[in-house]
Formats: sequence, structure tokens, C-alpha cells
Amino acid sequence: MTYKRPLVIAHRGASAYLPEHTLAGKAMAHAMGADFLEQDVVATRDGVLIVFHDLHLDDLTDVAIRFPGRARADGRHYCIDFDLGEIRQLALTERRRAGQAQTRWPGRFPAGAGSFSIPTLEEEIRFVHCLNHSTGRCVGIYPEIKAPAWHHEHGMDLAAEMVAVLGRYAYLGPADAAIIQCFDCAELRRVREQLGCRLRLVQLLEDELPATSGLQTIRQYADGIGPDLRQLLGTGLLADAHRSGLQVHPYTVRIDALPPGIGSLAELIEALCREEPVDALFTDFPDRVLAYLNQRVAGPS
Ligand code: G3P
Ligand code: CA
Repeated sequence: MTYKRPLVIAHRGASAYLPEHTLAGKAMAHAMGADFLEQDVVATRDGVLIVFHDLHLDDLTDVAIRFPGRARADGRHYCIDFDLGEIRQLALTERRRAGQAQTRWPGRFPAGAGSFSIPTLEEEIRFVHCLNHSTGRCVGIYPEIKAPAWHHEHGMDLAAEMVAVLGRYAYLGPADAAIIQCFDCAELRRVREQLGCRLRLVQLLEDELPATSGLQTIRQYADGIGPDLRQLLGTGLLADAHRSGLQVHPYTVRIDALPPGIGSLAELIEALCREEPVDALFTDFPDRVLAYLNQRVAGPS
């Protein structure tokens, strides 16, 4: 039986080894052989798209020290309250636990170490193009529209800006190496139907398992779903989605945070691929996942 290796999406870069959404972490993931590099995207006050996961800057930068008095009433410093020139002054570091000084992932890159800054989406795209040029590879980008409703409330059309940026770099159609993802169903549908975007679209899923009718609705505007990988364990979602014509790209394979009841990376990947393989998966460990998937493709020696 032939077996198609799932694509490997470097989740925020090689984030098990270098701080998330740093160009260094993207270069490492590229060198490890990832097929796609993920970008979480939010907007600055002056409307520039940056590659950053959180709406606020507090758990990944030195914003409170560098810009005293700029927090909102909740004590947080929001990306959308800072211009790009200010964002550029921040030191980006390994993720800390929310509101605390300790690192979120104790076995990973030490918090506070290194010298990193937040890239804009355009800087990152140009960086990926340069890596593709110098290596002869064609690694794709996989940007996520973060909290579109929140951005609309603040006067920003994040989705439209993202589609415009991608278009400037010739990411235009389904054969191009870019996939847009979003948790907000109405916004992703709008990307397809109102913004006229022809790129591949993936509907991210949070808690609820969609019924078959829900999958068929998603298929009207998207090419795939991105469930939490735990939604695939012991459920029929993978087969149901494939029957609905949808690809399945689960998040997030982490060796240092395996799901309950799963004892190893091999066990997790087998659970995701045994009956029929997922089409792609997000991981913080692109090297380890690729090593396992490639020996699986090669079969017994
Ligand atoms: O986009 C897939 C996965 O990254 C979704 O979760 O919170 O890491 O963006 P999050
Ligand atoms: Ca994401």
C-alpha cells in the first residue's frame, strides 16, 4: 500500500528550539525540512501586519519595562496600541507563563536569552523567499488571521490587509505555496466570497466537533479543517472530513506536551495516521516529526 507523507507545518517556527515567530526559528524549521512555516498575524496601531501570536505583548517581550504607563486598564500592553517603530524597539523572548516571569516551556530556549525582534509579515515573506532561493526549496507560508472581529472593532480589516500583502508577493491561487487559516468561520467565508481570495483556506476548529452538515458547510468556502489533534483521537472526524472533501491539518504535535493517554511521539503519529493519514500537521518539533514520518514512508528495512 502506498503511503503519502503528511505535510509538516512548523508551528510558529521550530518553536521547541528557538523563541516562537523569530526569523531564527523560521530559518531553523526551514533547514529541518518543514514544508510550511506558520505565521500568526496581528496588526499594529499604524496598520502594519506583524507576525506575533498574542493580541498583547506582555508574555513575549520587555514592553512593560520599555514603555511604562502604556498598559490598558487590564494591565496589558496591546499590539494595536503601538506603532511599528515602537514594536521594533522591543526585545522578543521565549514565551513566559501568562503574567509570570517563568518560562512557559522549561525544557526549551531560556526566557530572556538571545536577541530577537518581531518581524512584519512582509519581512518574513521576503526572508522565506530568500531561504527558498538559497536552498532551491519551495517552503510555503501558512498565515493565520488572528481575532478578526477584535481587529474590526479597532478599525482594522486584518483579513483584507493580509490578502493584499500575499497578493503583492504573488500568492494568488490554489497552486501557490500559501494557505490562510482562521478560527472565525464568518471571516474565513468572507475571505473566499467577498474578498475573492483563491488561495487554499483552512477552517480552524476549537472545542466543538462539527457534524457532517457542518463539514459540508465548511467545504463551501474552505479546502480543509484544522482541528485540535485531540478532536481526532477516538472520533470519526478525520474520515468524515475526508468524505466531505476536506483536508485535515491538526494542531499541535508537541513531544513535551503529549495528549492524555499517549506515551510517545510515535504513538501520537500512529493514532493520527493509522487508518487514513492526516494531510498535514502543525508541530513545534519539525525535525522529530519529519524523522518519524520519513522512516514510516520508507517502511520496514
Ligand atoms: O493555527 C493552528 C494553531 O496554531 C492554532 O492555535 O493558538 O497556536 O494559534 P494557536
Ligand atoms: Ca496559529
